[in-house]
Amino acid sequence: MPAKKIIIDTDPGQDDAVAILLALASPDEIDVLGITAVAGNVPLDLTQKNARIICELAGRTDVPVFSGCDCPIGRTLVTAEHVHGKTGLDGPVLPDPQMPLQDLHAVDFIIQTLREHPSGTITLCPLGPLTNIATALTKAPDIAKKIAAIVLMGGAYFEVGNITPTAEFNIYVDPEAADIVFRSGIDITVMPLDVTHKALVTKSRNDAFRALGTQVGNAVAEMTDFFERFDKEKYGSAGAPLHDPCVTAYLIQPELFSGRYINVEIETRSELTRGMSVADWWRVTDRPANATYIGDLDANGFFNLLTDRLSRF
Ligand code: RIB
Ligand code: CA
Repeated sequence: MPAKKIIIDTDPGQDDAVAILLALASPDEIDVLGITAVAGNVPLDLTQKNARIICELAGRTDVPVFSGCDCPIGRTLVTAEHVHGKTGLDGPVLPDPQMPLQDLHAVDFIIQTLREHPSGTITLCPLGPLTNIATALTKAPDIAKKIAAIVLMGGAYFEVGNITPTAEFNIYVDPEAADIVFRSGIDITVMPLDVTHKALVTKSRNDAFRALGTQVGNAVAEMTDFFERFDKEKYGSAGAPLHDPCVTAYLIQPELFSGRYINVEIETRSELTRGMSVADWWRVTDRPANATYIGDLDANGFFNLLTDRLSRF
């Protein structure tokens, strides 16, 4: 099977960093055509910088990094320094990037890349707010039918919200963008908090990262040591939830995950429930299914895969 050609759209973020490292460690399965940064966990000037820091940590300065939208569609930006720290990559001390940022806007890179490749050959992997993706779909409606699939981290149903009582952060930041994506008719697979809260970096799993004895292994251990504080305090979790790496792990070993093809719609009008992903898990409505909504994973299998791939750096 040839490697899947993907574009990673991201707001690094420690968990984004691990997702990107997993993708870059898996060239037989994943061909990263480019990384597009979006405002989310921290402002855009930091997410585009962090994306380049991660490429350099992976020794992959050949991967082009593009800067995208600096604020949501029609809303002010909400960030998450309380989770990810001031830099967005708090934890390890990593050098400022030397590799260049591409001049082309991320949205135009997404559009051009999809137009230049045969239909159905490119998968989009959004790991942050969906602003870049929705903006590209609005600017160039012709690309929707060319996208093979979207595999995204976002939303929550059984787990409810992590930024408000009802909404998960990525969707909450830009609900209008999420609404555009979920109504697009594109093949969508969703990694919500329902599954990512089962991908917890317990102490033994963190020890396994450190035991790699490499710069990447240590950096990932230090990132998750920092990143776990929020979820441990809020949920009493056993460790940091690796939200975004569920996306790239799914591309490598989909059999680790299970879910249902159901209807998912996004609340955009109510301020009380803004950004809620209303997942019809029990199929109680006649709303047409539009997404594969993942609810569970083989957590040990996931961490075995992740640790094995990180050992390749
Ligand atoms: O709610 C978790 C999501 O929001 C993750 O993608 C994390 O990186 C933040 O972007
Ligand atoms: Ca993210």
